[in-house]
Amino acid sequence: MVTLQEISALYEKYVMETYARANMMFVRGEGTRLYDADGREYLDFAAGIAVCSLGHCHPAVTAAIREQAGKLVHTSNLYLNEWQPRLAQKLVNHGFDGVCFFCNSGAEANEALIKLARKNGSEKGRYEIIVMNDSFHGRTLATLAATGRSKYRVGFQPDMPGFKFVDYNDVEAIRAAITDKTAAVMLEPVQGEGGIIPAAPGYLKAVRELCDEHGIMLLYDEVQCGIGRTGTFFAWQNAGVAPDALSMAKALGNGYPIGAMMASQKYAHVLTPGTHASTFGGTPLACAAACAVIDAIDQENVLENVKARSAYLVEKLSALSAKYPCVKGVRGQGLMLGIILDQPAGAILSILRENGMIALSAGENILRLVPPLTITQEDCEKAVALIDAAFAKLNA
Ligand SMILES: Cc1ncc(COP(=O)(O)O)c(C=O)c1O
Repeated sequence: MVTLQEISALYEKYVMETYARANMMFVRGEGTRLYDADGREYLDFAAGIAVCSLGHCHPAVTAAIREQAGKLVHTSNLYLNEWQPRLAQKLVNHGFDGVCFFCNSGAEANEALIKLARKNGSEKGRYEIIVMNDSFHGRTLATLAATGRSKYRVGFQPDMPGFKFVDYNDVEAIRAAITDKTAAVMLEPVQGEGGIIPAAPGYLKAVRELCDEHGIMLLYDEVQCGIGRTGTFFAWQNAGVAPDALSMAKALGNGYPIGAMMASQKYAHVLTPGTHASTFGGTPLACAAACAVIDAIDQENVLENVKARSAYLVEKLSALSAKYPCVKGVRGQGLMLGIILDQPAGAILSILRENGMIALSAGENILRLVPPLTITQEDCEKAVALIDAAFAKLNA
């Protein structure tokens, strides 16, 4: 039997140390549960960082991966494959009239967004993108330069030029930053890594109007908040304000790596043959997995579940602030929730782990909860009890 000690020794010797990892190893997952090598069960409110939105090893997604893996895995984008346009059609049918470019990760999807905006603005000398403080867009050099959480850029300067930072939820700051070099505004409809900060009511509409007034593109990064996480298929649908282009990744393959950039019809032909590419982008295997994910979201009333479970969690978790002074409130949208603390989330996360529950941190003092979107009422009740008990222990 595989042991934690054996694997941890291998890791230390052979794997580059770029992650602050807990010394834990999961060997199996099913729905909302993870199991370690000793058979211990954990309630998973992290979902692989908002990735496994249908829970671990969803039967329909597993079946689609198994079937396609036995038929055809990869052919390159020099030929058609049957699943790529089917997936694009499903995404479009969920409310965004446009076309898709497929890739493999969130950062890669955002690179495509940035290239789209630059290419579109190139003839007019418009290359600057207005981005947000506290945003997170990825770890490649361009997405890092667009990331407002400046600590991630330390040691990698000089930053790629062309990004201007303003405060999130401040329309006037965007207005003041616009020049004749501005190509686009790029933002997350709910900031994730920055601390689970939703767009304020009216903000997206005002940014849309400003972009239209100046003829610049509005780009959404829906890598974390998209694909049902906030209770609508695309997060922007909560406000009803469509972008010109958007990125997604994480939950699209429920753990099978796939990312996508969608551009509206107006910008459908900005990137032409030879201007952008990805060897592994949109393989038959990745797209078959993502098609199964979208079908399951539709067939299993996942969006309704998100809304109902979210209302319960927000009510119960908000009540904890009356009991524990370190809890300052709850914010977020759908099943992308943050408990605001007066201290870093590390201590509460380790108590939760000891008691059999996995969650995450975000921003400086946020306990982030991003469970599978298929979570049951019973599991939400269990999570609330575990979180309550963890705060009681922390305060004891
Ligand atoms: C909003 C957002 N954009 C981009 C990324 C980067 O995605 P990836 O790690 O798949 O490159 C993340 C990852 O957390 C994210 O939350």
